[in-house]
Amino acid sequence: MSGNVALIVAAGRGERFGAELPKQYLELGGRPLLRHSLEAFCTHPSIAAVAVVYQPAHQALYDAATAGLPLLPPISGGASRQGSVLNGLEGVAGVAPDRVLIHDAARPFVDRGIIDRTLAALETSAGAIAAVPVTDTIKRAHGHAAEALIAGTVDRRLLWRAQTPQAFRYRAILAARRQAVGAELTDDAAVAESAGLAVSLVMGAEDNFKVTTAADLERAEALLAARGAAFDYRTATGFDVHRFTAGDGIMICGIRVPHEFGLEGHSDADVGLHALTDALLGTIGAGDIGMHFPPSDERWRGADSSRFIGHAAELIAARGGAIVHVDLTVICERPKIGPHRAAMIERVAALLGLAADRVSVKATTTEQLGFTGRREGIAAQAAATVRLPAQR
Ligand code: CTP
Ligand code: MG
Repeated sequence: MSGNVALIVAAGRGERFGAELPKQYLELGGRPLLRHSLEAFCTHPSIAAVAVVYQPAHQALYDAATAGLPLLPPISGGASRQGSVLNGLEGVAGVAPDRVLIHDAARPFVDRGIIDRTLAALETSAGAIAAVPVTDTIKRAHGHAAEALIAGTVDRRLLWRAQTPQAFRYRAILAARRQAVGAELTDDAAVAESAGLAVSLVMGAEDNFKVTTAADLERAEALLAARGAAFDYRTATGFDVHRFTAGDGIMICGIRVPHEFGLEGHSDADVGLHALTDALLGTIGAGDIGMHFPPSDERWRGADSSRFIGHAAELIAARGGAIVHVDLTVICERPKIGPHRAAMIERVAALLGLAADRVSVKATTTEQLGFTGRREGIAAQAAATVRLPAQR
């Protein structure tokens, strides 16, 4: 048994939203919607593992949106949300969860408090869902017409609007879901209810709304901006140098650039990724690359530096942080960086799960002065900005 597992359902097509990309991959505050939901679960101390249910056709979007996050392998979704949840439940059987929390990728504002309350209620019932009490007076109509007459007023104190996460004891919900195949049930609680399981309502939040239409995404952007004042923004720098040696090409920003020399180094000597990694580590005061990956350690001989920058991104994500922007200047006379710039930007953006316009790669010479001018090596300097939750 492996504790609490979160299943994030993200296999929908976003038809009501009507954008070119499925809504879970659209940007909110510069990061894919899906990533917001994932970070809340990945950083929660009581969640042992997180898996996404997705459409394999969206593999590239998924990879970019989840870069650097510690996730179980993604699970293929179904044609309906119900089918996706069933696949997700079956898909995590191997990790044998005690409890499972099912959450819509399209609810980016789920927070630690909601997750805590849902898990706490599971101590006493087989299921627990986030929900908000209805505050408007509720009327029952005589028919389905737009201007039907009122048949009566409903006691709203008994009414709640269901949200996600919806959490259950794993075996109970898996059995109920298998049994409910074919039934028209609109949420996971309804499946549990139909199997006779006790399901508790716990307080969700008005902000934990589901992004369904373009207007919802605007609301989400406005909410994020209003919360922005409560964030702690930090900028840090990084610097690295590698010496030229015999060879026929060098790695910069994860891209191989053909050259008349190679670069000397313990790892793949990617001067660009090293400077960026140090800048990222600097934003959270997490030391430098040599501290995390000592050159004396044989494990890092010839290592792919994407591993180093991925580790820095994971440390930031674990602090609930988000990378806002990274900027790199490569300093050398040769090779020319320009022809490879777009590929480098794309690669760094993919490694960090950022939109390409949040990654900048520049190059300069030193007018033949100094060691870079004498073509003895390459230097790179970087800056990174991250947004951390404000410290109280
Ligand atoms: N979902 C899923 N598999 C499906 C359908 C939906 O995993 N076959 C997920 C969505 O990705 C979303 C959540 O279930 O995170 C809630 O569904 P909804 O808001 O309806 O999303 P979509 O189905 O994508 O949108 P639409 O109904 O407008 O097409
Ligand atoms: Mg749908």
